[in-house]
Amino acid sequence: MKASAQTRRLVITIDGPAGAGKSTTARALATQLGYIYLDTGALYRAVAWKANTAGVDCSDTIAMKNLLQHMDLHVTLEDTTTRTLVDSQDVTPYLRTPEVTRIASTVAAMPEVREWLLPIQQRFGQTGGIVVEGRDMGTRVFPNADVKFFLQADLNTRTARRYQESRQAGHEDNQQQIRDQIQARDARDQSRNIAPLIPATDAVMIDSSSRSVEEVVATMLESISARL
Ligand code: DC
Repeated sequence: MKASAQTRRLVITIDGPAGAGKSTTARALATQLGYIYLDTGALYRAVAWKANTAGVDCSDTIAMKNLLQHMDLHVTLEDTTTRTLVDSQDVTPYLRTPEVTRIASTVAAMPEVREWLLPIQQRFGQTGGIVVEGRDMGTRVFPNADVKFFLQADLNTRTARRYQESRQAGHEDNQQQIRDQIQARDARDQSRNIAPLIPATDAVMIDSSSRSVEEVVATMLESISARL
């Protein structure tokens, strides 16, 4: 179902917790529709990477505000990769380490960071034809999105997926560590005061626990086809 000149170029949001399958399905969906794909987690990770590299305490609000004032963040979307440049350096390969992952969920709870990233994300929605993935896409960044999904999966499934990814990336975490980290991140993402991880009231809820990527994408395309 490639988008053609006759079809509308929609803004499609996918929110959900870590390991629910957002990135894989968002990429596959964007490819099927001929849309661009934006991974907004990469932007929070880029801020975390900069804080970590600069030796800034990410819970120090004043230091973080100062860091953002001097941070140049440039995002380019190539095929299905969100390429992230911080102060002209391509940091994309460094964003998925366990340390950056941990710091990212702390910086994501800071209102200053979220405000700073808001216009950077919203710019990508202006012309439509995009699948965006994150935690507050349907609730805050694109409240008027054409189609919103909230993707869930049970904790065992999410742990197994992240464990496999971690092994493939050469990291040494064990399953229990990953399970604990996911639970801690979920708790932080869901309980923060600003833009907590909750489904938009008009989101289509999908549980990916026992479904393949193809099945999830097919379900999404059913909801989308009515809007094209
Ligand atoms: O999706 P991810 O694991 O790459 O996200 C990294 C962190 O950023 C995670 O703790 C959730 C947070 N995040 C967020 O708060 N809002 C978003 N739109 C995207 C990610």
